[in-house]
Amino acid sequence: MKGLYDIHCHILPGVDDGARNMEESLWMLSKEYKEGVRHVILTPHFRYEMFEPHMNIVTRQFMQLRREAIKIGQGDLQLYLGCELHSSMDMVECLKKGRRLTLAGSRYVLVEFSNSDEKSYIEERVRSLLMNGFIPIIAHAERYKATRSDIRFLEELREAGAYIQINADTISGESGFGAKLFAKKLMKQGILDFVGSDGHRQNERIPQIGKCAAKMEKIMGKEYVKKILIDNPGKITER
Ligand SMILES: [Fe+2]
Repeated sequence: MKGLYDIHCHILPGVDDGARNMEESLWMLSKEYKEGVRHVILTPHFRYEMFEPHMNIVTRQFMQLRREAIKIGQGDLQLYLGCELHSSMDMVECLKKGRRLTLAGSRYVLVEFSNSDEKSYIEERVRSLLMNGFIPIIAHAERYKATRSDIRFLEELREAGAYIQINADTISGESGFGAKLFAKKLMKQGILDFVGSDGHRQNERIPQIGKCAAKMEKIMGKEYVKKILIDNPGKITER
């Protein structure tokens, strides 16, 4: 299937623990293209005391990558800029002041939590984004204790207005059997909204949307793949 989206990846070079240089970024983008991906939202980490790349550098790297990526697929690979924002008490202010970015200039925010964050904290941070006009997408919801152990909690977050993203490798089974079962449950119960590769590098945590799409089609059918990997993410980039 062509026209797929990857809404979560670390392909932007030299700004976090993702791609180390332009060559590695282009290798990853070419792989994405070969697997049918035509829209990639680049989401470098922002996390205090760990990843705090200066916005000027992020923007400069993005402009450069976009210029270089024209070589891939005669220009029909669209790149957008975003951020994987680690939850903090000042994230709304960060977004409002443009210190960090939403996804592709939309109201959608890819928000990451820590593994051990309490339900009450996650819920409060999600509501704070919603009340300020942002639409939170919970990044790799399969990773946190609070969400992994309680699907009902994920449903509550969705009912409040948040969306749920899990990683491609979780669906294809590369992140272990337990994670695969969890992914299947989310899909079957209609709780999944988005998938991202969360691709980091050429030799580890490789972007593998194609493998995920094939597995997803086997479990849920073609229409579902279209919904999760084209239609839903299309709403992020439509103007
Ligand atoms: Fe990520």
